[in-house]
Amino acid sequence: MRTYLMPRIVSVNTSSIDQAARRLRVGEVVAFPTETVYGLGACTLNERAVDRVYELKGRPSNNPLIAHVLDEAMTRTIVSKGSWDARCDALAARFWPGPLTLVLARNSSVPDRATAGRPTIAVRSPAHPVARLLIERTGESISAPSANRSGRVSPTSAHHVLEEFADVPEARDLEILDGGPCEVGIESTVLDLTSDPPCILRPGSVTIEQLRTVIGEVESPDVRVQAASPGTSASHYAPHTPTNIVDSARLREALQQHVETGRRCVALIFPGTVTASPHTPIVMPREPNAYAHDLYRRLREADALGWDVIIIEQPPDDSHLWRAINDRLRRAAAAR
Ligand code: TXA
Ligand code: MG
Repeated sequence: MRTYLMPRIVSVNTSSIDQAARRLRVGEVVAFPTETVYGLGACTLNERAVDRVYELKGRPSNNPLIAHVLDEAMTRTIVSKGSWDARCDALAARFWPGPLTLVLARNSSVPDRATAGRPTIAVRSPAHPVARLLIERTGESISAPSANRSGRVSPTSAHHVLEEFADVPEARDLEILDGGPCEVGIESTVLDLTSDPPCILRPGSVTIEQLRTVIGEVESPDVRVQAASPGTSASHYAPHTPTNIVDSARLREALQQHVETGRRCVALIFPGTVTASPHTPIVMPREPNAYAHDLYRRLREADALGWDVIIIEQPPDDSHLWRAINDRLRRAAAAR
């Protein structure tokens, strides 16, 4: 295989996916699209390859990865006997392939590194056709965190992945499969089935109401989550530019204050929000699916301006998807 000087975007066809699968099988790392965000993948069972993912991302070694599988049969190769139960059958029938990750007990074939030493493993079956074909051709589970440097905004296009790794010397061989923009735009819902009752560790587009109709009692995210899922620590998904979330009613005043103190602002606002002061407006959709789809791209655009502050107009909190979006916004704005 050739070596290169920089990560590169590869257009998708059966031969480039085959080539990427070959790379994975010999222990290399490949970036690929999913319906949520792009992932940085390595074979789950290859400890050294998984190690490379942590290195490239600069990811803390205590933050476990999600294993991407084709289906129940592939899940059974990495989870402990008996942990795939009737609830998993029902959840997979309803939500797989799709943006739902299940935390289950792992089996002994999985190297410690792939789960950050935990006795459990997070598993999801992505819906994106490129991800599916890649897993199929690789023939085994692919562990992949979002393909951003640790703590930064998740990538929703191949170009975002390139931006993240362009100046990382260790990533010069990285191949990025270009599957177009991600449809969902925020990361999967993570559901821990090893706790009683099952508990959502990370909100996403599969809602708690939907999960409850399939398996009954489910706990929503709470303080337990911080300890249970290190990837949900306060500052995450963060632009380089300091970011504030501001209520619609206070928006004009907040912008005015920044402008008066000489700070240049970019504001993610809803259509129709009137803001008198000079600043760069980025108008966001009012519909939550569309907002989620655009969010990370818009945050990256706002960040790329290199201005002094990003102001985000506070979205509503009246649906699970808005709550998942607000979760990401709070982390983007959290003190680092
Ligand atoms: O949509 C997604 O889930 C994307 C795409 C690429 O599939 N992946 C993703 O991975 O967001 P990452 O690594 O950025 O986030 C994984 C989350 C983290 O919050 C991590 O702590 C949690 O899942 N997680 C992984 N394994 C876990 C485990 N065994 N127990 C508890 N939490 C776990
Ligand atoms: Mg991530």
